[in-house]
Amino acid sequence: MKLTNSSVKKLKEDFPIFKNNPGLIYLDSAATSQRPSVVIQAFVDFYEKENANISRGVYTLAEKATRRYDEAREVIAKFIGANPKEIIFTRNATEGLNLLSYTLNSIIPEGKNEILITEMEHHSNLVPWQQLVQRGGFNLKFVQVKDDFTLDIEDLKEKLTDKTAIVSVTHISNVLGTINPVEEISRIAKERGALVIVDAAQSAPSIKIDVKKIDCDFIVFSGHKMLGPGGIGVLCGRAELLEKMHPFNFGGGMIKKVTLENTEFASPPERFEAGTQNIAGAIALAEAIKYLDKIGLENIQEWEKELTFYAIKKLKEIGGMKIYNSESDKKIGIISFNLKDIHPHDVASLLNDSKIAIRAGHHCAMPLMKRLEVVGTCRASFYVYNTLEDVDALISALKKVKEKFE
Ligand SMILES: Cc1ncc(COP(=O)(O)O)c(C=O)c1O
Repeated sequence: MKLTNSSVKKLKEDFPIFKNNPGLIYLDSAATSQRPSVVIQAFVDFYEKENANISRGVYTLAEKATRRYDEAREVIAKFIGANPKEIIFTRNATEGLNLLSYTLNSIIPEGKNEILITEMEHHSNLVPWQQLVQRGGFNLKFVQVKDDFTLDIEDLKEKLTDKTAIVSVTHISNVLGTINPVEEISRIAKERGALVIVDAAQSAPSIKIDVKKIDCDFIVFSGHKMLGPGGIGVLCGRAELLEKMHPFNFGGGMIKKVTLENTEFASPPERFEAGTQNIAGAIALAEAIKYLDKIGLENIQEWEKELTFYAIKKLKEIGGMKIYNSESDKKIGIISFNLKDIHPHDVASLLNDSKIAIRAGHHCAMPLMKRLEVVGTCRASFYVYNTLEDVDALISALKKVKEKFE
């Protein structure tokens, strides 16, 4: 279904948040998305009708809960072209990256000790690697961001060596909206025998992901940014690697056999899902994916692109606007900007007076702020429920902010 301004207006009715907050102009979906009623209902339904712990009970309700959880895993696997055994439920993208930072050394060959990330990473794809370096045995290198806000692929090629153990890169920058060429990055990293991790927190909501096509080893994302509930995320890993990896958390649900002295671990994905999982979250995330699939991610990306082109054109007309967005036509619904030298927090709180919700600050990407030589930016982000009128409201409120400071 190709999205148009009028079809989006209709679709917006699926999201109770807008009914309950009349006049709300929500432009912060890169932080967290809103949820349609079908997703909220799936969550409630589970607790009202099907709640039991999974994998352990032999009674009907427990069997049903287990089946629903397994089905959710299948839906998610299909969504990104993976095998269900490769899908590990986490709390969020951050937990997926932490899991990898604690477990990958069990499969990294001798002599490889470099981790390559980029200057545009969210702290979630930086801090866990810094901690790994501090635990010893690894060092961290950074691919530069060019002045046009894209990644410097030549710099990446130069910094990749035979010692590179891990290349971990965001698919889409949560600040710049830059879409990184993850297939190309994966290909050149593989030539050096590095493991490739893609942080898809910003791309899974809007870009059709095929893990086989990207040919990465691991990919992470969060449910709450893609219409799903909070507290559920996904780590997808290549089956043959997961098989060899040591667990992250230990306890119930991840074992095959336990004696007082020792433990034999379960196979993946259970090996990496210790303790009681967010069962309702997984089921509701699968519902969110079905909702996204019905619209079609290609259509969502196209609509975001349309909104972004429209917004950038209008933002430029205001004058005094610095926009941190590449001129490339590979666009997604994320725009960072600063209005003259007005502090981003001032801009955001004045926009709030017009019920416009944007984010302002460092966006959990402090090193990127340093690279851009700013304390922070304003960030408007669009998703499937945003209309051209939302953009118009943003523009007219920004004009008022500008007048106020003149
Ligand atoms: C690119 C990117 N990576 C990782 C994360 C972390 O996501 P979460 O907080 O859901 O773990 C975010 C969140 O904004 C993000 O934008």
